[in-house]
Amino acid sequence: MQHEEAPLESLATDAPAPRPRVVALLNQKGGVGKTTSTVNLGAALARFGHRVLLIDLDPQSNLSLHFGVEGSPEQRTVRDLLLDPSCGIDDVVQQARPGLDFVPAVTELALVEGELAAMDGMQGVLRGKLESARGRYDVVLLDCPPSLGVLSVNALTAADEVFVPMQAHYLPLRGLEKLLQTVHLVAQGLNPSIRVTGILLCMHDGSSSHARAVIGEMEAQFEQFRAADVPWSGACVLQPPIRRNIKLAEAPSFGKTIFDYAPACPGARDYRELARGLLERWSLSTDAFDGGPVRRARAARRAAPTSESKPTSAPRRKSTRTLKSVPKPKSRSAARPAPKPKPVPKRATKRATKPKPKPKPVAKPARAAKAPRRARTGRGRIRSGGLSL
Ligand SMILES: Nc1ncnc2c1ncn2[C@@H]1O[C@H](COP(=O)(O)OP(=O)(O)O)[C@@H](O)[C@H]1O
Ligand SMILES: [Mg+2]
Repeated sequence: MQHEEAPLESLATDAPAPRPRVVALLNQKGGVGKTTSTVNLGAALARFGHRVLLIDLDPQSNLSLHFGVEGSPEQRTVRDLLLDPSCGIDDVVQQARPGLDFVPAVTELALVEGELAAMDGMQGVLRGKLESARGRYDVVLLDCPPSLGVLSVNALTAADEVFVPMQAHYLPLRGLEKLLQTVHLVAQGLNPSIRVTGILLCMHDGSSSHARAVIGEMEAQFEQFRAADVPWSGACVLQPPIRRNIKLAEAPSFGKTIFDYAPACPGARDYRELARGLLERWSLSTDAFDGGPVRRARAARRAAPTSESKPTSAPRRKSTRTLKSVPKPKSRSAARPAPKPKPVPKRATKRATKPKPKPKPVAKPARAAKAPRRARTGRGRIRSGGLSL
């Protein structure tokens, strides 16, 4: 009997388009940096040239504010996506920036937990809907609510990886245990391939000895699970930590990502480098960071050394703020235009071109003297209670 070969074209079209990498940013605690990280990590990945989708699963629906997008009653949201079987990603997605789309949430999302709970296979709804994102996005970031309820379980069922945004403090470290237990439960049934990639330190203060002690404890705990069959066996503290930077808190009040608002600030640098590290880990390209604001700012600084410390794209006067009560940030960059064409006296020029002026040299020896003491008090003092399950 002659064997019939399938035509090559049909083989090609039968192969499913690649599934995007799906990452849940999860922490049952609020105010730890989940939304800020979803938005600005997403924006950085998009500026590296990748197609990114952000999904807001938090009833506080803060994500849209970062893009200056006001919700309208007709607009369909993640609630429709989860509850209406005929609603797909295309019906709810909005473009925030080139290469960066998002699905908005609504405050009634809090009620969705109850409605979802009544549905068959409710934990897998989001995973099913993300099938239509195949071939259209490279990365999907899920901004989870501050709870470990049905919405977070949906995110974990859909996700390949979990990032845990948190501060390097003692109490959040204790909360991590509960979070890992939830991921473990999901891995035992709904999504065996889920992995906890690591801790994303937000609002980080690297000069605090307590923070260093907590990080040391986290790393030591993760080290104990390297050979274990648990989703966090490969977990680490992601680098770099995101420093506390007020520009990150100001940006959403202008409806901007940090790359639109202050592309040269420490917050923008941290999210860009975090994105670069992740793309390398995922074997995705890091060739170009869009040739956009950061590169332009660098070029402008090189051309005009007197404006070195200022972002060239200073926030515009006419803001797109949606929160009227938010006072206009009084940043130096907002108050002054970036270039300084005026001739500057010699001493001033010298100061402006110095990379890091240290007005109080007295503080230096004091710091240096304290450092070893901090290091010695490091690990041993924090008791996490262990991350064992
Ligand atoms: N690195 C940071 N530096 C300064 N403020 C930050 C930083 N990250 C987040 N914030 C601010 O902290 C608050 C909580 O952050 P958010 O991302 O909304 O947390 P979550 O989504 O976990 O509730 C917000 O006001 C945000 O602007
Ligand atoms: Mg949030």
